[in-house]
Amino acid sequence: MKTTSGGYVVSKCRALLLLIVFIGSLIAVGVLVYFLADRPYPAAATNGATASASSSSSSTTTNKKDQHHEMNGSNNKNVRLPRAVLPVRYDVRLFPVLEKGNFSILGQVSIDLECQMETDRIVLHSADIVVDPKSVKVIEQGKSSGKTLMVASDGGIHYDIEMEFLVIRLCPKHKDKLVKGANYTLSMNYVGNLTDQLRGLYRSTYKEDGVEKYMAVSQMEPTDARRAFPCFDEPNMKAIFSVTLGRHRDMTALSNMPLINTTQMQVTLLHHLNLFILHPEGMDGFYWDHFAPSVPMSTYLVAFIVANFTQVEADVGNATWKFNIYARPSASNQAQYAREIGPKIQAFFEDYFQIPFPLPKQDMIAIPDFAAGAMENWGLITYRETALLYDEKKSSVNNKERVCEVIAHELAHQWFGNLVTMDWWTDLWLNEGFASYAEYLGSEHVEPGLKWLQQFVTRDLQDVMSLDALESSHPISVVVHHPNEINEIFDRISYGKGATIIRMLAAFLGEKTFRQGLTNYLKSRQYGNAVQDDLWDALTKQAKANKVPLPTGVKQIMDTWTLKMGFPVVMVTRDYDNSSVFLSQERFLMQRSNASSQDKTVYLWWVPLTYTTDFQTIGSTWLADGQTSKKHELSIPADKNQWLIFNVDQMGYYRINYDSQNWQMIGQQLMTNHTAISAINRAQIMDDSLNLAEAGQLDYETALNLTRYLEHETDYVPWDSALSSLGYISSMMSRTSAYGLLKKHFRTIITPLYNLVGFDQKVGEDLLTTKLRINAVSWACSMGNKDCISRSVNSYAQWMADPENIDLISPNLKGTVTCTAIREGDEIEWEFALNRYLASNVASEQAVLLSSMSCSEKPWILAKMLEMSLNSTSGIRKQDAARVISQVAYNSLGRYMSFNFIRNNFDELRKVFPSTFSSMSGIIKAVASSFNTELELKELMQFRVEKSVGLSGAERATQQSIDRAKNNLNWMRQNYHKVVDWLQRIY
Ligand SMILES: *[C@@H]1O[C@H](CO)[C@@H](O)[C@H](O)[C@H]1NC(C)=O
Ligand SMILES: *[C@@H]1O[C@H](CO)[C@@H](O)[C@H](O)[C@H]1NC(C)=O
Ligand SMILES: [Zn+2]
Repeated sequence: MKTTSGGYVVSKCRALLLLIVFIGSLIAVGVLVYFLADRPYPAAATNGATASASSSSSSTTTNKKDQHHEMNGSNNKNVRLPRAVLPVRYDVRLFPVLEKGNFSILGQVSIDLECQMETDRIVLHSADIVVDPKSVKVIEQGKSSGKTLMVASDGGIHYDIEMEFLVIRLCPKHKDKLVKGANYTLSMNYVGNLTDQLRGLYRSTYKEDGVEKYMAVSQMEPTDARRAFPCFDEPNMKAIFSVTLGRHRDMTALSNMPLINTTQMQVTLLHHLNLFILHPEGMDGFYWDHFAPSVPMSTYLVAFIVANFTQVEADVGNATWKFNIYARPSASNQAQYAREIGPKIQAFFEDYFQIPFPLPKQDMIAIPDFAAGAMENWGLITYRETALLYDEKKSSVNNKERVCEVIAHELAHQWFGNLVTMDWWTDLWLNEGFASYAEYLGSEHVEPGLKWLQQFVTRDLQDVMSLDALESSHPISVVVHHPNEINEIFDRISYGKGATIIRMLAAFLGEKTFRQGLTNYLKSRQYGNAVQDDLWDALTKQAKANKVPLPTGVKQIMDTWTLKMGFPVVMVTRDYDNSSVFLSQERFLMQRSNASSQDKTVYLWWVPLTYTTDFQTIGSTWLADGQTSKKHELSIPADKNQWLIFNVDQMGYYRINYDSQNWQMIGQQLMTNHTAISAINRAQIMDDSLNLAEAGQLDYETALNLTRYLEHETDYVPWDSALSSLGYISSMMSRTSAYGLLKKHFRTIITPLYNLVGFDQKVGEDLLTTKLRINAVSWACSMGNKDCISRSVNSYAQWMADPENIDLISPNLKGTVTCTAIREGDEIEWEFALNRYLASNVASEQAVLLSSMSCSEKPWILAKMLEMSLNSTSGIRKQDAARVISQVAYNSLGRYMSFNFIRNNFDELRKVFPSTFSSMSGIIKAVASSFNTELELKELMQFRVEKSVGLSGAERATQQSIDRAKNNLNWMRQNYHKVVDWLQRIY
C-alpha cells in the first residue's frame, strides 16, 4: 500500500440510480430480528492460537513510552485466530446494491476448510456484517459426500465484536465435531451496509455530466476484508478465491482475476424471517460476473469493483499479460501516462526479480474516494486519482513524479508482498520498506531524468531521520496485535526507514548479491509467507557464495537496524599529524530527556562506513555494535590539508559529525568549487550540519556558514535538503521579531538560483530544472522577493480575467502563484481559487488549489476553510478534509486556529476519520509540529488527556507531536539567540 500524500476531487450530492427498493427495507427487518436473537457467548475461550507471544503484559496506561517493542497502550489480548481449521478456497458472491437510500451488500460465501485438529467450533473474522443464522451450513466433503453438521441452535452463531470474530459452534447435543484430516465446506448468507467509510467494500461518489454516480470499491488492507465477507483475515491464511460480483447491466465488475462468464441474476425471497437468498439465475437487468479462481493469496489482497468506468488498454508488446487502466469516463484522458509507464515498469520488475508476473492481467483503477494513496491488490491495483491520473496541461512535474513513484511501488509489491507475504503484520516494514526501495528502481527505469537514485536521500532517508531522531520513535519491527495497532504502523518508519536500510543493505552486499539472494528468497517462498529472518538467511547464503566480505551475518547486522529504534551519529575526529581518525557512535537524538535513562537498550549498531578525500578512491570499514569497540581508530592516508568525507553518497543510515577543522575544510571546498563533492554528499552535508546544530551537537555558526555556499548551488538535491532543514528554522522564527532578518538571509541565498532558472518555464528543459524552479519560486516569493511577488500577482490577475485559459500559468507554478496572490490579496482572490477547485475535473489541480487557499492571511477566511472541511455540502471531499486542516495549520497564522478547531470538533472529526489509516495522526502532527511556546505545549498535553479515548490509534502520533513541541521549545531557548546573533553579524 502507499500512504496518502495528496489527491483531491470534488463532488456534491444529488439524486440518482434505480431499483429494488424493497430489498433495503427487508434488510433492515432482517437485521433487527437478528440482533434481537443474539446472545452473549464466552469470548476467546478456544482461542489457543499460534500467535506470536507478546512480551509485555502490563501495558495498561496509554501514555507509557518505555515499552518500545510494543505498540503503546491498547490491546494485548490475543487477537489471532485459532488454527484448528484452515481455509483452502473461497467462493465469494457479492452484490453491492448501489441505490441511494438502500446502499447495502448482499453476500454469500462458501469456504472449503481443512481441519488440522479436532474442534467443535469454527472461528473466523467478520465485522459490520450480519449473517443469516438459518443459512449457516457446515458440510463434510468426501466420497460419502454431503454430511451436514448441525450448528447449535442456541448460541451457535456468535459475534465477538471486540475481537471481530464470528464463532460458529456445532450442536453439543448431536456431539458433532470437525475431525482432523477431514475437509469441510462452511457456507452462509449475510448482509452489510455499503457505507462511505473507505474500508471493506464501500461506495465512492462522483459526478458525471452533473449527475451523481456511485460505484462500489474495496480496500481490505490491513484488516478490513472481514467487513466485506466473513473470512480468515490473517496474511498467512492464504487461499484461492473464486469471486462472483452482481451488477446492473450498465456497470462493469472487476476483481483480481479475469472474467470468465456472465449469468443473469434473480432475487428470491425466503420465508417468515424475512431474510432472502440469492439464486444465480434470472433477474431483469442484473447480472452475475464470474471471475477465474485466483492463485493462493492473502485476504488483504482481494479486490472488488463495480463501476461504470472507461477502460484504456495499454500496449504490452509480447508480454504474457494484458494491462488496462480504468477511470471515470470524463477523466479517462488523464490515463495516458499510466498507460505508457505501467507495462514498462511491470516488465522491468519481471526482469529484476527474474520471476514472470503470474496473472493473466493487470488492471489499475483510479478511485474518486480513496483513503490510502494506492493499494497493491493482486491484478487489480486501486489508486487515488492523484496517484494514477496525470494531465499534461494541468498537472505539475511533481504530480507526474508522484504517479510514477506510486505505480512503481504497487507493481513492486506484486512480487514482494503478494507472491511472498509477511507472515504477520509485525513484518509489515519488510513489505513496505522493500516496495518503497524498489519504487526508485522502477521509476529510474522509466523516468531517468528525475534522477531518482539521488532524490532517494531527500525523499526518504533524510525525511525519516527527522522522525526517527525522536525518543518516541519506534523500531521498524514492531510486535502488533490489535487492528488499531496494525493500522498505526503504516507510517514513515515502516516505509521510509525500511527503504533506507534496504538500500544500505544492497550497497554493502553489492547489487549482484542482493538481487540473486532476493530472487532465491522469492522463489523458495512463492505463494507462501516469510519473516524477516528468511530474507536475511537467503542473503547471507548468497553473500557467502559470492565471497562478499562481511564482519558477521546479515541477520546480526540488520537486527541492529530493525529491532532498535533510531540511528547513530558517527563522530569522526582526525589526528592530522598521524593520518588517522578516531570513530565513535552514539544514538542521534534531537533532544535527550530523562525518559531515555530507563531504556535499557544498548544503542550501538553495525555501521557500514565509507569515506573519501576525492570521490575517486572510496575506503570502507565497519563499526561494530559491541560495547568494546565503541572507539575505533582507523588509519587514513589523507593529507592534513585535505578534507575527509564519510558516508559516500549517503548510502548509510547515520549522521556524520567531524571536528571543526574538517568541517571548515569542507566549507572552503564548497565555497571555492562545490562540485568537487558529489551532489548527494552536498545534500548530506546540509542536512547533517543543520540537524546536528538543531540537536546542539554542532555550533550554529558552523552550520549556517555552510549554507552560504548555496549562492552557487544549482543542483536539485542539495537545494531540496537545505530548504527542508532551513524550513525548520523558518517555522520556528516566523512569529518572532527576527523573522525579517532571516528572510533577508534566505533571499540572499535563493535569489541567484531564482535568477538562473527564471520564473517562466523553457521549452524542452529537463524535469529536475522544472522542479528546481518550483522550489526557487516558492521560496523567493515567500521570502519576499519583489519580482517573484509581482509576477505571481500579475499572472493570477490575468487568470482571474480569463478563467478558462489554462495556458496563462504553468501547472508547475500554479501552487506558488495562487498562494502568493491569495496571501497578498483579499476575499476575491480566495473565492476565485475555490471556484476553480469546484470546477476542476483534475484531482491533482484541485489538490494544489486547495493547499494554496490556506495561504490567506485573513483569519476569518482560514476559519471559513476549516468549517468547510467538515461540511459535506461545501464541495470539499471527505478524503480531503484532513489536508485542509493540516494546510491551514502550516500557515503560521492558522496554526493555533486549527488546533482549536480540532479540539472543538473532535467528536465530529472522529466520525469523519474512522480508524482507517493515519488521517487523525496526520492532522495532529501537522497542527502541533511547529508549536514552540510553553502555552502551546501545555494545551497539547491537556488535549491528550482530555481526548485519550478518541485518540486511540493516534497515540504514537500524539506522543511524537508532544516530543516535537518540547524539542521546539528547547530550540527556542537554546538556539534562537544564536541564530539571531549570526544573522546580525552577517547582515
Ligand atoms: C482435503 O483437501 C485437500 C486439498 O485441499 C486434499 O489434498 C485432501 O486429500 C483432502 N482430504 C480429504 C480427506 O478429502
Ligand atoms: C446498517 O445501517 C443501519 C442504519 O444505520 C443499521 O441499523 C444496521 O445495523 C447496519 N447494518 C449492519 C450490518 O451493520
Ligand atoms: Zn506499499
